[in-house]
Amino acid sequence: MTRTSSSARPGDLDLDEFRRVGYQVIDAIAAYHAGLADRRAIPDATPTDVAARFAEPLALDGESAAALLADWQARVEPLSTAVGSPRHFALVNGSGAMIGILAEALAACINTNGVSWKVAPAATEVERQCIRWLAQFIGYPDDCGGVLVSGGTMSNLTAILTALRHVAPYDSTPGGLQDAARSGRFLLYMSDQEGHVSVTRVADMLNLGRTAVRLVPSRPDFTMDAAALDRMLAADRASGDLPFCVVAQLGSVNVGAIDPLDALADICARHGVWLHGDGACGLLAAGLPEFRDRFRGLERADSLSLDAHKWLGVPYDCGVVLVRERERLRRAFSITAPYLRSETEVADRGIDFLEYGPQMSRSFRALKVWMVLRHFGVSGLRRMLAKNIALAHHLHDRVRTHPDFEVLHDPLLYLYCFRYVPRELRGREGDAEIARAVDQINREIAEAVQRSGVAFVTTTRIGGKVALRMSICSQRTLQDDIDMTFDALAHEGRAIAARQLAN
Ligand SMILES: Cc1ncc(COP(=O)(O)O)c(C=O)c1O
Repeated sequence: MTRTSSSARPGDLDLDEFRRVGYQVIDAIAAYHAGLADRRAIPDATPTDVAARFAEPLALDGESAAALLADWQARVEPLSTAVGSPRHFALVNGSGAMIGILAEALAACINTNGVSWKVAPAATEVERQCIRWLAQFIGYPDDCGGVLVSGGTMSNLTAILTALRHVAPYDSTPGGLQDAARSGRFLLYMSDQEGHVSVTRVADMLNLGRTAVRLVPSRPDFTMDAAALDRMLAADRASGDLPFCVVAQLGSVNVGAIDPLDALADICARHGVWLHGDGACGLLAAGLPEFRDRFRGLERADSLSLDAHKWLGVPYDCGVVLVRERERLRRAFSITAPYLRSETEVADRGIDFLEYGPQMSRSFRALKVWMVLRHFGVSGLRRMLAKNIALAHHLHDRVRTHPDFEVLHDPLLYLYCFRYVPRELRGREGDAEIARAVDQINREIAEAVQRSGVAFVTTTRIGGKVALRMSICSQRTLQDDIDMTFDALAHEGRAIAARQLAN
């Protein structure tokens, strides 16, 4: 069937208009990226301003593509935080590799729904290949199962539900938590300092209750104390509860801590508990030869999360979950309905991703992962990761040699926290009022730097103290960006401290 036509079908753009505006879209994207380093990191606008700019009725008559592009340039782009800025250090926001922009357009072109093999033959195999490549890169068995989801929270949900289904002492699929066979509470474990809030959210979504997340004491380097975990698992089991999953941090969100996988795997095996590694931020570091030792035991984890929209720089959104035994993932999620599978049985059957995760309809996320991975290649990716880690070390050097900053931890990955302590208040933080004042100075520094537009730096808490936090996971960040940001923090710090000290 070869029939070509330039006349538009209902709902479609005329192809000449599509080409004309499409080229303008490419120009707009290129111009945006050309100016990215000079943009404000956050727009200078209040929530009320932004809401007012968008509050309007939907037009009765349709608008042209050119008008929509013009409005994107007038309102959407200027009122968007520059997540791709080389000085965007908030949360764990990846830079959005440009090849991924093209991948997004191409995925939309074929409007793939990755629900099942029949609906998405190429997309299914591209996704499976991405899972194999990522597993190979980090040193995980590449015959594992896996699925792409929206992000780290959904990866953790997918893995933790798989854990629950696998470890529960009865078939929890039909009756779930309401099954009469249930005795005791299902419990999961993460470290108390650096365990991630998404795990608590997962406990919530699974209706286990937030208190089902047991917090295991950490060691001074913020990693989980394996001996303490061992004792907690034994005590909880002895009191009739059902420990089912330990979540190890593989590059924690504030300080990049990597929990001791080998020791945790031994303990989990002894207690019959699933070991999940939350590597949303840091798992890619396992692909760096110099980090192999830190990740020793990785292949023993039952499942892993890795966010492609974080350090890999794939445009939002994309999380990856890997499960060592593929069939366990399928057993946790397999569901069917007559309309989903109408064909007669065939020998050569592709896999249907709807059976391997929480979503049914799914966008072609794998295309951008596939293209980003291929665009960088193994050595390009390693170079990029190592560069971010080196920048965190450079920042650490600036912090430790400045008289007004305090080091809070050694840098390990690209996540680094530190604290402004004006030299006049050094050593006086034992006084609770002074400690509170220093906390306040740090909050105000982050807000002042945000307001200046130079960089997006936020605060967090480390060991109970308010700390400045920088997540250096953009491919675009250079040493100059770190220096410019650090100088701005020091400058604001001095001005704010001077005001506070004068009072
Ligand atoms: C360690 C860790 N796990 C999970 C998540 C949640 O990821 P997402 O925001 O993609 O849902 C994050 C987010 O920063 C994280 O740092």
